[in-house]
Amino acid sequence: MLEIKDLTVEVEGKEIIRDLNLNIERGAVHVLFGPNGCGKTTLLMAILGFPNYKVKKGSITFRGVDITDLPTNERVKLGMGMSFQHPPEIRGVKLGDMVNIARGRKEEKIDEDVIELGKRLNISVDFLNRDVNLGFSGGEVKRSEILQMLAQSPEFIMLDEPDSGVDVENIELIGDIINELMDRNKMPSKRERAGLIITHLGFILRYINADRAHVMLDGRIACTGMLDEVTKHVMEEGFERCVELCGGKGV
Ligand SMILES: Nc1ncnc2c1ncn2[C@@H]1O[C@H](COP(=O)(O)OP(=O)(O)O)[C@@H](O)[C@H]1O
Ligand SMILES: [Mg+2]
Repeated sequence: MLEIKDLTVEVEGKEIIRDLNLNIERGAVHVLFGPNGCGKTTLLMAILGFPNYKVKKGSITFRGVDITDLPTNERVKLGMGMSFQHPPEIRGVKLGDMVNIARGRKEEKIDEDVIELGKRLNISVDFLNRDVNLGFSGGEVKRSEILQMLAQSPEFIMLDEPDSGVDVENIELIGDIINELMDRNKMPSKRERAGLIITHLGFILRYINADRAHVMLDGRIACTGMLDEVTKHVMEEGFERCVELCGGKGV
């Protein structure tokens, strides 16, 4: 579904991603680990095609289409979605209105269907009437991001630290919805969707079911393997040691 070849990305004149290769098949969910500042968010922003993230070399192919030079809205139309690590505050735009649009609704009033989706994430109608991210707590930001994904229902979902700042009760809720969004409740042969999840501390991995994991160091995939194996090394011994244990096998 997603094929990244020899990707080099520059932000503000600084090379952040270097010769990165990554393939995610339809039906698969991959996890990306890595220390602060190694380039995880930059990779997702480049996949989604944000203008500040300049592809200097390499290509990104999505569902068989070379999207390297495609604008973000075209990539989203092809079926990509992203939940942001630090989404911006949008004064004057209500969360409910934005989710309405993500759901494809044209009416002004917040759709019943959107209200129902909100309930699944402990998001009230009052909350839907607040300006996007304005004064939201860390956990509320994450739930609002997942609500937008639920409404948009993309075929390929990127989640940038969906677990950071989320309390214990809500993390399980978010985990259940992520599993549903990525077809993890279906038999492997019936899974149509795919995803890439960044997690710093791995909390979300107690609740979701993924296939493979990668460790990113200094803008490159330094190690890749089965989720359980990589997670164990990362959590017990740290990123660098995990790469040594993997024998530095990249993809
Ligand atoms: N807009 C920007 N301007 C300058 N440097 C940036 C910008 N965005 C990211 N960077 C730098 O790129 C590096 C990787 O950042 P990021 O992708 O956010 O890392 P991660 O998500 O792995 O913590 C960091 O050193 C960060 O400071
Ligand atoms: Mg980040």
